[in-house]
Amino acid sequence: MIQLKDLRYVRLGTRDPAAAAEYAQRILGLELVRREGGAVYLRGDDRDHTLVYVKGEPADHTVGWEVTDTAALEAAGAELESRKIAVRRGRRAECDGRHVEDFLSFADPSGNRHELLVRPHHSGRRFFPSRDCGVWSFSHIGLRTTDAARDEAFWTGVLSARVSDRIGAAPLLRIDEVHHKVALFPSAHAGVQHVNHQVQGVDDVMRAYYFLREQGVRIVFGPGRHPTSGAVFLYFEGPDAMVYEYSTGVRLIKPEEEASYRPRQFPFTPESFCMWGSRPDIPEFRTREDASAPKAA
Ligand SMILES: [Fe+2]
Repeated sequence: MIQLKDLRYVRLGTRDPAAAAEYAQRILGLELVRREGGAVYLRGDDRDHTLVYVKGEPADHTVGWEVTDTAALEAAGAELESRKIAVRRGRRAECDGRHVEDFLSFADPSGNRHELLVRPHHSGRRFFPSRDCGVWSFSHIGLRTTDAARDEAFWTGVLSARVSDRIGAAPLLRIDEVHHKVALFPSAHAGVQHVNHQVQGVDDVMRAYYFLREQGVRIVFGPGRHPTSGAVFLYFEGPDAMVYEYSTGVRLIKPEEEASYRPRQFPFTPESFCMWGSRPDIPEFRTREDASAPKAA
């Protein structure tokens, strides 16, 4: 079992890293960390970086996961190879570019690229958002899966994820006490499906709703509240049609609850995604009921 300690970063390919970074600062409110080797590094909390735009194909997504130490990284490599999963060790220059001590990369059964890494850099400077957005943490990702049952078995059997709830076939998975750090949504192809940042409160979600509308940013879901995690959310579109989410109030499943916690099965219906009645304009969230409903504002 490969213990995932934390979700560290996403690296997103884009043909225009400068334009993507401009969006991330002006709209998303992230802090620009550095431009280096054709990539732009940004962050949504006190860590060195949490989001990187890399010059390349927009379909090229990589997710970085921290493991405990070098011994855990070696063991993870051996475990993946024993399961006939190809593993590639990061070269020194690649480690330097990621600001980590060491990493290895592999693909999950759907083909999503992941990096397991050790000793990622923290920052001595506190996070300073580029606008008053209330963002305080890069928190979770939605990931596409071409076979949810197969990938759930991989995430819970090979990696240390645990199912918090399911919506239809889509599992919401935790690796620590936060209700989910990754959720797997059925799709015809792999890729990061959305990128979540936590904001401080409902006021930030609603401020963002009006701000984004004023800025002409397409809002694709919300404001609403997830009945699964209890989080109040807003989803909106970014560069290369990537979906970004602000949310607040996610449920924690405390260590003392672990033994008795049972995941709940929610049907694949609109009210399982939003208990307030908002309808998603996000392909992976749209249910049969949404097909006849008006699109989100
Ligand atoms: Fe989310």
